[in-house]
Amino acid sequence: MTTALTTTDRLAGILPDIEVAALTPLIEEIEVLKRQRNAVVLAHNYMTPDIYHGVSDLTGDSLALARLAAETDADVIVMAGVHFMAETAKIVSPDKTVLIPNLEAGCSLAASITPEDIATLRERYPGAPVVTYVNTSAAVKAASDITCTSGNAVQVVESLDADRVIFIPDQYLGRWVAGQTDKEIILWQGSCEVHERFTGDELREYRELYPGIQIIAHPECPTDVLEEADYVGSTSGMLNWVRTEVPERVVMVTECSMSDNVAVGSPETEFIRPCNLCPYMKLITLEGIRDALRDMKHEVIVPDDIAEGARLAVNRMLALG
Ligand code: 13P
Ligand code: SF4
Repeated sequence: MTTALTTTDRLAGILPDIEVAALTPLIEEIEVLKRQRNAVVLAHNYMTPDIYHGVSDLTGDSLALARLAAETDADVIVMAGVHFMAETAKIVSPDKTVLIPNLEAGCSLAASITPEDIATLRERYPGAPVVTYVNTSAAVKAASDITCTSGNAVQVVESLDADRVIFIPDQYLGRWVAGQTDKEIILWQGSCEVHERFTGDELREYRELYPGIQIIAHPECPTDVLEEADYVGSTSGMLNWVRTEVPERVVMVTECSMSDNVAVGSPETEFIRPCNLCPYMKLITLEGIRDALRDMKHEVIVPDDIAEGARLAVNRMLALG
């Protein structure tokens, strides 16, 4: 939360003093614009620390951001995250103005599947419900029965009254879910270009180099990585795990900025930081957030016919609690 604290207070000890001094005018400009627009900045856990700690009002994983977007009283939501997160915010909060600072902030998973692909899957597996990871377009959500996030995928699959479930588009998340349910899971070959670069060998090297290290991984990682991990969970699941377990040393097998952000509240833990950047998340900058609020751009619009179907799928997920 950014209330009452000065920029220097919020970023002290997080960024070098000289950087804080350089960023202060821009951050203060954003704070003024937020008040003028009655806007909130929702920030995903992968945002850089200047955004995450400097200007965000609320932070979280995809599930938390969807919930927060549905609950906020603000007139304007600036999504400091990727496009599917902004679309989800618009789907659950159709009366709000939702802005994304950079329209190019996509996702390799969202790009891997279309509504036509879902129609083909439904033909091939008649009667099997379609569970769709939120990392997809609104049109794909609208063609689905229910959405899920990495934080609730097993719960969503288990909630369905079907022995066979189509799970799209992340093959690794789908395999990880399949390992925790008796249902048959039909997979799609999508993957996250950031997480699929991690390997089990790399993690075994960390265990040799740093005896006793705890390895925690996002379920978008390949199966051999997940098998090597001590904990697997969503970005917020990983954050909470570090806060609760307070490991001496940890490696977070996910996007780079996670460790930077979590390390701020975990001074007792040493973070070993392999760095795979998400090029899409990194398109969101403080300047982009300022421009979004100043010029009310880029507004995310979801056509009514698509929004209606997508809302059903997202709300079914949110109703599971
Ligand atoms: P979370 O829902 O776990 O935050 O994941 C979103 C994402 O895009 C991970 O790559
Ligand atoms: Fe998409 Fe992967 Fe980037 Fe997450 S980290 S937004 S799944 S490309």
